[in-house]
Amino acid sequence: MKKDLIITIFGSTGDLTARKLLPAITALYESKNITNNVQIIALGRRDFTTEEYLTYIQKLTKKPLKLNVLRNILTYYKIQITELDDYINFQKYISNLTNPQTKQIYYMAIGPEILKNVAKNVSQSKLIEHQNPNHVLVFEKPFGHDLESAMKVNEMLWSYFDEQQIFRIDHYLGKEMIQNLMTVRFANRIFEDTWDSKSISKVKIHVKEQEGILTRAGYYDTSGALKDMVQSHLLQILSLVAMDAPKKYHSEYIKDEKVKVLRSLTLDTDCAIFGQYKGYLDEENIPLDSKTETFVYFRVFVNTPRFRGVPFEILTGKKLDKKESYIEIEYYPTDEQSKWQLDTVPNKLRINIQPDDGVELSINSKKPGLKENLEEVHLSFKTAESVEGNIPEAYEKLILDIVTGHRTLFTRWDEIDASWHFIDQVKKACKKFVVYENESDILSHIK
Ligand code: BG6
Repeated sequence: MKKDLIITIFGSTGDLTARKLLPAITALYESKNITNNVQIIALGRRDFTTEEYLTYIQKLTKKPLKLNVLRNILTYYKIQITELDDYINFQKYISNLTNPQTKQIYYMAIGPEILKNVAKNVSQSKLIEHQNPNHVLVFEKPFGHDLESAMKVNEMLWSYFDEQQIFRIDHYLGKEMIQNLMTVRFANRIFEDTWDSKSISKVKIHVKEQEGILTRAGYYDTSGALKDMVQSHLLQILSLVAMDAPKKYHSEYIKDEKVKVLRSLTLDTDCAIFGQYKGYLDEENIPLDSKTETFVYFRVFVNTPRFRGVPFEILTGKKLDKKESYIEIEYYPTDEQSKWQLDTVPNKLRINIQPDDGVELSINSKKPGLKENLEEVHLSFKTAESVEGNIPEAYEKLILDIVTGHRTLFTRWDEIDASWHFIDQVKKACKKFVVYENESDILSHIK
């Protein structure tokens, strides 16, 4: 039977497929957000039957997969990803399942070292026909390890595929509060009118993790927190916080504004701190003399009329006290505040990305009672309290947008190009390297 949607996963025996992709696809299928006439094809080099594959993949994740659903919609298919002939045979297999209207998504959950080979074979076997909008590919970071290598990856992709066929994933863009950022900013007068250097004194973008590197030594040690987290997730958040209003709320206009921010970043070279958690060198497969950072802190300025002079504090690290990501906007006190005898605090808007996604605004208020006392109170909204059922995972939203062809939550090449320009500057800047035992230890180095 011909299918309406085929999702082919390269790298289907990996962690990402087990923990993110299969749960997201099954959730979309069960909630009927994607057609039930869908086929997932898990590609791998091992000699598995579909049932053996499912048993294997279940072992990679603690969360139970919906195996009964997957048995209906998933097939394992063996392929040697270096062999063009295997792709040609696979193309014949696929052509029996498709008609020209079938949406075909090729998800590259593979390392950068084999991407070139796979892209070439996918193109030469005509699995993906150049400029066919129904044939698309999806890439995960890392897009290179510096500007030069990222450019090479991109040129390679453009030599085979059209930009409109390429979806570059940054899964933070699928998180509920990141999607909500433009609404909070631009659809609320109290924020839109004060979102600039006249009112805002500083901005923090903090993404903290409690886990270490888990089983990803091979990838992580060549990457480090700067490339793993800042180049993608934190700079994407920064660009959404600092951008000007787009001419229209359409993907390309929004990206144009984000790129302007990324191109106007200036590092405050005084304060960059790189850290490595104690015990990192004892992790399996990490070289004993590794200087890879698992923590990064620096301040950056956005040289646009809106934000010139406002420091943005970027912080991310592993093995910190708890997993939490947030944006904190701190406002200047009002002129009146200085005349008060009582202590007041600056207003803060905190956008919680995870956990407890939501928005919190702290304001000064009189303490109820007969005395003239003040207190800081918090107005807060939690996303989870306003939805029925579970909030969709970032990957559900992203996969749905790929199926429906919505491109806003995916990164365009010039965003990546501009981020690498900046990250290369941070790499060269002088910085302190500290081994930390815990969060307070590393935070004590920040002035
Ligand atoms: C990934 C990084 O992109 O994001 C990981 O490679 C990191 O190192 C992860 O742990 C964090 O994502 P989340 O959604 O758990 O905050």
